[in-house]
Amino acid sequence: MKGVFIKTYGCQMNVYDSARMVKLLAPLGFVPVMAPNDADLVIFNTCHIREKAAEKVYSELGKIHRLKIAKAHRGGTMIVAVGGCVAQAEGAEILHRVPFVDLVFGPQSYHRLPELVVRALREDGVRVLDTNFPAEPKFDYLPEASAAAGVTAFLTVQEGCDKFCSFCVVPYTRGAEYSRPVVQVLTEARHAVGAGVREITLLGQNVNAYHGESPDGRNWGLGELIRGLAELPGLDRIRYTTSHPGDVDDGLIAAHRDVPQLMPFVHLPVQSGADRVLAAMNRRHTADVYRQIVDRLRSARSDLALSSDFIVGFPGESEEDFLATLDLVDEIGFAQAFSFKYSRRPGTPAAFARDQVPESVKSYRLDVLQRLLKRQQRDFNEACVGQILPVLLEKPGRHDGQLVGRSPYLQSVHVAAPARLGEIVPVLISAASTNSLAGSLAPAAAA
Ligand code: 5AD
Ligand code: SF4
Repeated sequence: MKGVFIKTYGCQMNVYDSARMVKLLAPLGFVPVMAPNDADLVIFNTCHIREKAAEKVYSELGKIHRLKIAKAHRGGTMIVAVGGCVAQAEGAEILHRVPFVDLVFGPQSYHRLPELVVRALREDGVRVLDTNFPAEPKFDYLPEASAAAGVTAFLTVQEGCDKFCSFCVVPYTRGAEYSRPVVQVLTEARHAVGAGVREITLLGQNVNAYHGESPDGRNWGLGELIRGLAELPGLDRIRYTTSHPGDVDDGLIAAHRDVPQLMPFVHLPVQSGADRVLAAMNRRHTADVYRQIVDRLRSARSDLALSSDFIVGFPGESEEDFLATLDLVDEIGFAQAFSFKYSRRPGTPAAFARDQVPESVKSYRLDVLQRLLKRQQRDFNEACVGQILPVLLEKPGRHDGQLVGRSPYLQSVHVAAPARLGEIVPVLISAASTNSLAGSLAPAAAA
């Protein structure tokens, strides 16, 4: 038996990919281990979306080097592999910059991981680089990942992106948009539900661009896929992430109206509230179009909660543009959100812009925006106090007699409850903070 340690950075897609790697490597005798110290194989599944994410990988790799040397002194071998989007974007540079890395593979090549690892093990000292975009879809070769999950699971239905927002590396690292066929998705979901999964989150870099081939010969959009999944008995909750406003179509909005299993929470990145900036970002929508989409979603499902991504300090962003973003946030009201300083990514169009915003201005704007978003998040959570919310109990809490679950709006809820993991129970919310809720079983269910 050999130990594999996988460290995952970045988005949920990487979390999902890492789970699949574990399954792929099992037939070679690899079992996952919790620490890298004595591992035979260390994999960094990396993220390239912002500069900080990429730099973190290089600094963590430095620590692994010491472990690799220590293992060699004990007569053992530690294969060090770098996968994911940094590998895709900087493959050859990694081999050059980090001489003890044995294997570099892109997100499109990890179905070949067993073969690459065997090569690295057999031919001691050989260094392998595989960052090709294969002609064959990798999903045809991959084992299912979700059966390993507990009560909730991720399911990748779409990968890559054709939107080419001018700040973003995804179209270059993950490649062209690809949707998995409907039957593959439904089969994987059925197996997950059979293994005890109650909630599935459909994943994709631009998941609502989904257009998978279906048995009836048509392409299903995300709305149709959600309707198909909702027919699986035992699948109580469906979510999806992450979406582009331009791909919110009537079918998806109708699914929010008609499918009770589809949770009333949508992560819909807007990035900026200023049309000038949105145009320079190549987002293909205006702030008003975003507002209209939100209105339509809310008319379909009145309690729908929203989340978003924001970038401050995009090249050319003026104070007035930034104020337009604050206005949009004020108007819409987000239940949660992620916000980032613009980070120059090599090879993307915006990296070449001459009117880069100074770091100090970016920091100031991020601080102001995050204060506002945080306040909205706390207000949203506090408005839940006194309500009874259905909570899917996912895992034991930190204290005895406490479980942690999620509300329909993706809030983390600490529940004083006997162990009933995997159930959806009504919880009377008694307290709220910025990041979570607390409550106890509502009387009817406690009886
Ligand atoms: N700089 C800052 N933030 C970025 N994002 C993507 N690329 C960049 C970049 N170059 C953010 C966007 C996206 C989220 C996943 O990461 O907000 O929606
Ligand atoms: Fe990147 Fe999302 Fe834009 Fe695609 S839609 S280019 S993944 S920010």
